[in-house]
Amino acid sequence: MKSFVKELECSKCGKRYDPESLINLCECGSPIFVRYDLQLIKTKLKKEDLSKRNSDMWRYREFLPLINDKNIISMGEGFTPLLKAENLGKYFGLENLYLKDETINPTGSFKARGLACAISRAKELGVKKISLPTAGNAGGAAAAYAAKGGLKSLIAMPENTPSAFKLEVINYGAEVIFTEGSIIDAGKKLSERREKEDWFDLSTLKEPYRLEGKKTMGIELAEQLNWNLPDVIIYPTGGGTGLIGMWKAFNELEQIGWINSQKPRMVSVQAEGCAPIVKAFNEGKEKAEEWQNPKTIAAGLRVPKAVGDFLMLKVLKESSGTAVAVPENEIISGIKEIASREGIFTSPECGALYSALKILIDKKFVKKTDKIILFLTGSGFKYVDSISSFYI
Ligand SMILES: Cc1ncc(COP(=O)(O)O)c(C=O)c1O
Repeated sequence: MKSFVKELECSKCGKRYDPESLINLCECGSPIFVRYDLQLIKTKLKKEDLSKRNSDMWRYREFLPLINDKNIISMGEGFTPLLKAENLGKYFGLENLYLKDETINPTGSFKARGLACAISRAKELGVKKISLPTAGNAGGAAAAYAAKGGLKSLIAMPENTPSAFKLEVINYGAEVIFTEGSIIDAGKKLSERREKEDWFDLSTLKEPYRLEGKKTMGIELAEQLNWNLPDVIIYPTGGGTGLIGMWKAFNELEQIGWINSQKPRMVSVQAEGCAPIVKAFNEGKEKAEEWQNPKTIAAGLRVPKAVGDFLMLKVLKESSGTAVAVPENEIISGIKEIASREGIFTSPECGALYSALKILIDKKFVKKTDKIILFLTGSGFKYVDSISSFYI
């Protein structure tokens, strides 16, 4: 299989890089995007061809950066169900509410997509040791795909990360560093190790390929909706790769003529205890300030400063979307509302979506007939120890 990648391009300054180079951020400190020869993809692939392919994210192979199929490290990630939320929809008076159930991915979250892609590509480029700081799910996925691909992994996570994540990375054979503070502090500890040892940095948006895996959520949604995108996508946002990746997918699909220019309004959901993107969006800023003293049970949303903040804010603006901060005390009840009405036990990040939807209805941002997608990004099972005190 040939790769359709044309070049790597800085998302801020536009500087171009050789697609075969092993790279992290641009010289200017910004994330790098993969650019494809979309016109060539258009001549080689018809959307009808997809139905004959495997039900995983690699069915969108032409839109992914691997050169050789033998380098793909896969555990069946992607092609997750898109479910009509009949009960929740009825409760809210919404006629077209859907859930994208990412909880069933390998390792229990959407992070599997990005890390399957990034670790496969890193391996293809000769990397043997990967590292990243994590709030939990990314670390689990990274360690699992590294194990499957025969790479070594070094994972740093805050000490208060739920114990399921700690145990799983240890079991996958990763070396783990526990740190005080947030994911930012975990990242700093890793940089110290990287100064002395050769660990490739897979931090969110600090290499080009995790985003490409996440992008498949957008292509998949389009395919599942017969290439008619929904009106609104509601997404729990930390580092922002889901939001940015889906937007990239929609732009690529538009460029090859598989969808029209009607794109969803994208909504970033954060917790009141750590809402840098919501604050920056409300203040009309182009980038976000670091959030001081970040606190929320939704560990994946405890990202006080994101390298892709300006990209998230751009997506929200371009899509006529919005950003919503959810009260901390509604996150756990949100988990219960979704679980008891739709039968899916989700993580606190997804619990926040319930309260966000209420706010969006009150603000009349969404209307009764809108096609709305809630992204259930991760399973609740790994958070049992951190949330059990709210129940028992
Ligand atoms: C379950 C879950 N949802 C959402 C997020 C936020 O994702 P992103 O960093 O891509 O914005 C995370 C991140 O850890 C997560 O684990």
